[in-house]
Amino acid sequence: MLILKDLTDEGWQFASSSTSRKGEELAASPYAALTFYWIPLGRQVRVMGTVGPTDPEDSARDFLLRPAPARAEALVGRQSAVLEDPADIDAAVKEQTERLTVEPGLVAPNWTLYTLRAEEVEFWQSDPDRRHLRLRYRLDETEHWTKERLWP
Ligand SMILES: Cc1cc2nc3c(=O)[nH]c(=O)nc-3n(C[C@H](O)[C@H](O)[C@H](O)COP(=O)(O)O)c2cc1C
Repeated sequence: MLILKDLTDEGWQFASSSTSRKGEELAASPYAALTFYWIPLGRQVRVMGTVGPTDPEDSARDFLLRPAPARAEALVGRQSAVLEDPADIDAAVKEQTERLTVEPGLVAPNWTLYTLRAEEVEFWQSDPDRRHLRLRYRLDETEHWTKERLWP
């Protein structure tokens, strides 16, 4: 579960730590799928494509928009690492909060705004009789979107 930060001409943007589990997985295999699901509407949208980091300035801008506690936490830079002792969080966050007090413009080097460039998008609408409507759009080599219906 991630916040969709923006949808630009470049693609779908989300932010995370490049040293988290997902950050390392994306570095090894820069391909991902996003799923959006609206329960009351029975509607799902899936977006699949290649993922890469945006310009460091964009990541820095995103980082600086985060509230101070979130910046301190990200500056710790341990997302997804094993936490041996919960008391370690307090000490680590306190240290980074103090750094931020002295240097409010600090940016965590691992904080990354990623952009997913869609190659395939599927719109799914549920049907009570299981005749779900599935519309898939695929981008071909000529940058043309092919629309197909899929079996439910
Ligand atoms: C509502 C919600 C929003 C979240 N937004 C983010 C986010 O924008 N970025 C992020 O790194 N993690 C976010 N998380 C935490 C991630 O779901 C995830 O636990 C974390 O990124 C570590 O994942 P990983 O170990 O697979 O790298 C959010 C969680 C929830 C429940």
